[in-house]
Amino acid sequence: MNDFKERIAAELVAVRNRSLAYTEAEDDLLVRQHSPLMSPLVWDLAHVGNYEELWVLREAGGITPLRPEIDDLYDAFKHPRKDRPSLPILGPGEARRYIGGVRGRVLDVLDAIDPDGPDPLHRDAFVFGLVIQHEHQHDETMLATLQLSREPGLVRDGDLPPGGSAGAEEVFVPAGPFLMGTGTQPWAYDNERPAHRVDLPAYWIDRLPVGNLAYAAFIDDGGYDDPRWWTPEGWHWRQESHACAPLFWTRDGGTWWRTRFGRPEPVPMDEPVQHVCWYEADAYARWAGRRLPTEAEWEKACGWDPSAGRARKYPWGDDDPGPGRANLGHRAARPAPLGAFPAGASAYGVEQMIGDVWEWTASLFLPYPGFRSFPYREYSEVFFGKDYRVLRGGSWAADPAAVRTTFRNWDHPIRRQIFSGFRCARSATPEQA
Ligand SMILES: [Fe+2]
Repeated sequence: MNDFKERIAAELVAVRNRSLAYTEAEDDLLVRQHSPLMSPLVWDLAHVGNYEELWVLREAGGITPLRPEIDDLYDAFKHPRKDRPSLPILGPGEARRYIGGVRGRVLDVLDAIDPDGPDPLHRDAFVFGLVIQHEHQHDETMLATLQLSREPGLVRDGDLPPGGSAGAEEVFVPAGPFLMGTGTQPWAYDNERPAHRVDLPAYWIDRLPVGNLAYAAFIDDGGYDDPRWWTPEGWHWRQESHACAPLFWTRDGGTWWRTRFGRPEPVPMDEPVQHVCWYEADAYARWAGRRLPTEAEWEKACGWDPSAGRARKYPWGDDDPGPGRANLGHRAARPAPLGAFPAGASAYGVEQMIGDVWEWTASLFLPYPGFRSFPYREYSEVFFGKDYRVLRGGSWAADPAAVRTTFRNWDHPIRRQIFSGFRCARSATPEQA
C-alpha cells in the first residue's frame, strides 16, 4: 500500500479503537436505552459496521453481502431511535464479531481501489472518508449517550491548555464576497458543495464562544422567565420543558453545579457554555442585544482568508489541527477554557471556532445553489427545510477527520444533549460599514 492508503488504514484503526473503547462496558449498559433520544450503544456499534459493509464492501468493492438479513435493523430511516431497543439487534459479542468480520475485508478493498480513477466512490478514497467520518460521528453520539446515562467512570478525561488569551470581545468582518462551501475538499459531504460566491454586509462576531459566566448572568437576570427574549416557539419550548439552565446544570445555594459523565463538579465559569438548545442560544443573544450569526457569517469569519482571496480548510490554514490549535478528538471530555487557543485563530482573529462546542447558527439547513445529492439522498437532502438549524465547528468530541471550516451539522432547535454552544454576532451600523 502507498502512503495515502497507509494513512487511511491508520484512520480506520484509530476510529475503530475509539468505538471499541466507548463500548468497553458491561453488556447491560450497552443494550439498555439511556434516553428515548438515543439508541442503545450496541446499536451504534453494529450500525457503523453495517454502514461500512454497505458502502465499502458492497458498493465500492462489489462483495456479496455478509449479513443481508440485518440490514433492515440498522437502517436509521426505518426505525427511530426510541424503537431500537425493541428490535432483535445483535448482542454485544455478536456485534463485535460482525464489525470485525467486515473490517477484515475492508482493507482488501482499500488495497484494490484506484484513488485516481473515474469511480466517484473510489476517487480520493471518498468511500473511506465517508465511513471514517460516519463512525466518528457515531462515536460522538455514543459520548452523548454516555453523558445522558450519568454512569460514572466510563469516559476518560485529559488536560487542556489554560485559557485567557487577550483580545477584543468582538471582531469586525468588513463587507464583501467570499467563497462558501467547497469544491476541493475531497472528503466533504454533498451538503458542503458546491463552492459558491456569497456577498455579505459588514458585521461583528464574538472573538470567543459565549462562556458559562456570561450565560449565568442571563439566568440571574431572569432570562428564562422573560418572554421578550424568546421567539414564540422558543417560549413554548421553555414553558413545556420547564428548563431554567443548560442541561445537566443544578443550583446549590449560590453555586452552579453540573454533572459531567457521572461526576458532579462546580460549573467552570471560564468554559464555553455547553448543552444549550437553539432556542436558548437565540434568547441569550436577544437578551445581550445581539443575534446568532448566520451560517455564512460564521463560515466567512472562520475560513476566509481575505488577503489570499481563498478559503482555508481550518481557521489557521490548511495544516492539521495540532494540540495548540484546537480541542478536538476527545483529548478531554469537556470544552477548553475560553482563550485557550490563540494559535487557532482565523484570518480575522476569531478564536475557538473549531473544536470545544458545536456552535448554533441562525440558519435553517438548506441546500446550496447547485446542490446534488451524493452518494445517497438520505445523507442530507431529506433533512433540508424548516425543521433543522445548522451547527458549525465541531465539539471537543469531534475528530479532526470530521471537521473543517465548511462542515455542516444540523439538529432540531430543541436538542441539547449534544455538545452545543454558540457565539453572538451583530450587523455593523452604516457608519461602521
Ligand atoms: Fe449512521
